[in-house]
Amino acid sequence: MLGNFVYSNPTKLYFGEESLHYLNEELPKYGKTVQLIYGSGSIKRNGIYDQVMDILKANNKVVVEDGGVMPNPTVEKLMEGVRIARENQVDFLLAVGGGSCCDYAKAVSVSVHCDEDPWEKYYIRFEEPACPIVPVGCVLTMVGTGSEMNGGAVITNREQKLKIGHVFGDNVMPKFAILNPRFTFTLPKRQMVAGIYDIFNHICEQYFSGEDDNTSDYISEALMKSVIHSSRIAIQNPEDYEARSNIMWTATWALNTLIAQGKATDWMVHMLGQSVGAYTDATHGMTLAAVSLAYYRYICPYGLAKFRRFAVNVWDVDQNGKNDEQIAAEGLSCMESWMKELGLVMNLRDLGATEDMLEGIADGTFIMEGGYKILTRNEVFDILKASI
Ligand code: NZQ
Ligand code: ZN
Repeated sequence: MLGNFVYSNPTKLYFGEESLHYLNEELPKYGKTVQLIYGSGSIKRNGIYDQVMDILKANNKVVVEDGGVMPNPTVEKLMEGVRIARENQVDFLLAVGGGSCCDYAKAVSVSVHCDEDPWEKYYIRFEEPACPIVPVGCVLTMVGTGSEMNGGAVITNREQKLKIGHVFGDNVMPKFAILNPRFTFTLPKRQMVAGIYDIFNHICEQYFSGEDDNTSDYISEALMKSVIHSSRIAIQNPEDYEARSNIMWTATWALNTLIAQGKATDWMVHMLGQSVGAYTDATHGMTLAAVSLAYYRYICPYGLAKFRRFAVNVWDVDQNGKNDEQIAAEGLSCMESWMKELGLVMNLRDLGATEDMLEGIADGTFIMEGGYKILTRNEVFDILKASI
């Protein structure tokens, strides 16, 4: 049965080749001082920085720069961003980059006026903000996380070896997001495919849960088919606008809260991947790819009907003469072949993980309860062991 829910998504999206122009419509809604958040320099090399700066200047904004946001942003960087925001009394946070910049902007937004330690409050105690929140806008340059239209903000504490996501509410979600597929053309292939797998796995996390006849699952199947189809075109020709725009749009819908409505969700692959990330600082999508197959093959018997459905509806597996187990297994083999076609990293060793890290990674893995099998800590360890 479709559960009860209240659905709203406050983020306004501007999509397409001309979308950056709409920054001119959004900026006047916010105060004078803008904290411009970006990563390690890709936006300076590909010209996006200059385009954004021209628009900020044309709108008479005082720009405070906050570059150097690293992939998997750290708690130290978060505190630096908070200091910059406080010292300059910024009115608006504009993230120009991928999920790391968008997540970081959201984490800063709830911390500027917070008089407690944000890591402890939001990431250890999972409390909600009780202070004014600085509004955030995003110009997206890397596709995958869905951060442009959700409340997620993942922060890494390297000292504690923990990578944790807090999903904040509507009041923290970006006020707007600008999605120009052309801005993603300069992504290295490794980042493009990591993002593609991140999208696919977000859908899997919401799909592999529950047995009901749920509209969300039909939407999920369509999104999965779209991303598989477009990924095959994009790896041949990364500048195929149609494929890149479909991938960008699918990413947003994969994690903008829609397909989770009214149903249980899993998120166990993300919990494993995040703990791997805390130990290796590896690219997010690759950490998911490395643990996925071992996890899905392990839980398949517990969710056989859904894995069978996945094989037939997503991978067009021929059912003739096969039992349910065989059909489900064939679906996962199709998924594995596609992952190899993309060139994903499929094991933990290639991400820099070593056997002696596995106990710690297992201890740092949050165990979720919405999937087909609630794992024990030892099962988590076994899955990691099978992934190395
Ligand atoms: O640092 P810069 O110079 O920007 O380079 C980045 C970075 O090295 C580069 N890049 C981005 N756009 C580019 C580009 N290079 C060339 N051309 C462009 N147009 O790509 C690299 C990766 O960027 P990053 O933002 O780190 O990647 P992604 O978008 O995958 O974000 C990863 C972070 O998001 C979190 C992850 O855990 C990780 O910390 N997630 C956030 C989620 C959410 N908000 O809901 C959910 C996800 O599951 C995920 O956990
Ligand atoms: Zn993800």
